[in-house]
Amino acid sequence: MLQQIMHEMFPTPNHDEEARQEFVNDFRMHLATKVCPGSVPAYFKRVMPAFVKEHGREPKDRHEIRRAMTRDPFYQMWSAMQRSSQEMVWDSVIDSVERQLPDLIAKAAVLNGKGSLTLDPELEIPKYHTAFDIHLQPGAYHTDVVQNDLAAGAVYDRGSFIYAMGGLGEHNDGMGRITRNFFRTRFPGRKLERVLDLGCTIGGSVCFWSQQEPETEFHAIDVGAPCLRYGHARARAIGAGIHFSQQNAEALNFPDASFDLVMSHIVLHETSRTALQNIFNECYRVLKPGGVMLHLDLQQRWGQSPLDAFLGEWEIYNNNEHFYGQLKEIDCGEVAVNAGFDKAKFGIHHVSTTWQDDQTPYGESSFQLPIYLAEK
Ligand SMILES: C[S@@+](CC[C@H](N)C(=O)[O-])C[C@H]1O[C@@H](n2cnc3c(N)ncnc32)[C@H](O)[C@@H]1O
Repeated sequence: MLQQIMHEMFPTPNHDEEARQEFVNDFRMHLATKVCPGSVPAYFKRVMPAFVKEHGREPKDRHEIRRAMTRDPFYQMWSAMQRSSQEMVWDSVIDSVERQLPDLIAKAAVLNGKGSLTLDPELEIPKYHTAFDIHLQPGAYHTDVVQNDLAAGAVYDRGSFIYAMGGLGEHNDGMGRITRNFFRTRFPGRKLERVLDLGCTIGGSVCFWSQQEPETEFHAIDVGAPCLRYGHARARAIGAGIHFSQQNAEALNFPDASFDLVMSHIVLHETSRTALQNIFNECYRVLKPGGVMLHLDLQQRWGQSPLDAFLGEWEIYNNNEHFYGQLKEIDCGEVAVNAGFDKAKFGIHHVSTTWQDDQTPYGESSFQLPIYLAEK
């Protein structure tokens, strides 16, 4: 297992906790590489022939495939194990964080450094966060249990590392590396006075940006207070200067035309259809003329075939990613135009998930993510 870099706020696992966490990581890797691929022969050898026998034709879309595959014993076994492994990610981290919570809260209170934290206890958390726990993290991003709670942030820091099996890098900053590479390749000399990161969670991406662009003033917002408390302390622990505030990206409290760049990292697929339009509207409003809107998100379309589409939808139906499907179907160009952007200045760019080498410009890869880019 790739080792995550420790810092003063890191919820360091003890021996037994680390053993559990490593097991979950390896279990998930085993499921992804050795078990999940078995769904393809299960479909072609068993499920599809049975469907053809019954209907006289092949399944026409992912919905028909889902109805057939969810009755197949192999698929049921893999899906049940995958779901359990996701629950185990959080279980393996929550005990460890709870054991250390008083210490972590005490450390956060005395950490000095750059940046700031502004919370809004009156902020209404959107229903698309309160109705269910996104990717099964108990209490999601926003639930406070004790005073000055930061558990959700600490759980996310360690849990998302295991969830991604280390794929976001030892600092959980892989997405920030991707967007900064992309931005600086496309806009090499662009001066950035003020940058806003929407849905920052614990600031994994924006901290990388701020370390690379020390002259820029960085702001980062999220609806989740415990994630922001942890993110603020974590940023201080690693020497990054960010102004964190608790806000809804749909209704920001920043003045018009106040940022050179507004960005987000895997946030859009967790918002509702209405919220998406509101967020783009706000991006347009707070950008200076000539400013850039940049959103990195998950895979954009359903895939080449109905089977590919079905294989890509597991998280939507089993991991509380209820809005991911709609993002694949929405025309974000239209959303951008409705927000005020010029159609000619909007584009979807596919970037490689290779983030390890900062010098490598975005390029070809079998696994690519969309960046929704617009200039005001
Ligand atoms: C998958 S996490 C994003 C990870 C993070 N951007 C990073 O770079 O590591 C999604 C985040 O978006 C936030 N979010 C979703 N909708 C939001 C909204 N309307 N306003 C503010 N934050 C929002 C959630 O609270 C959550 O912290």
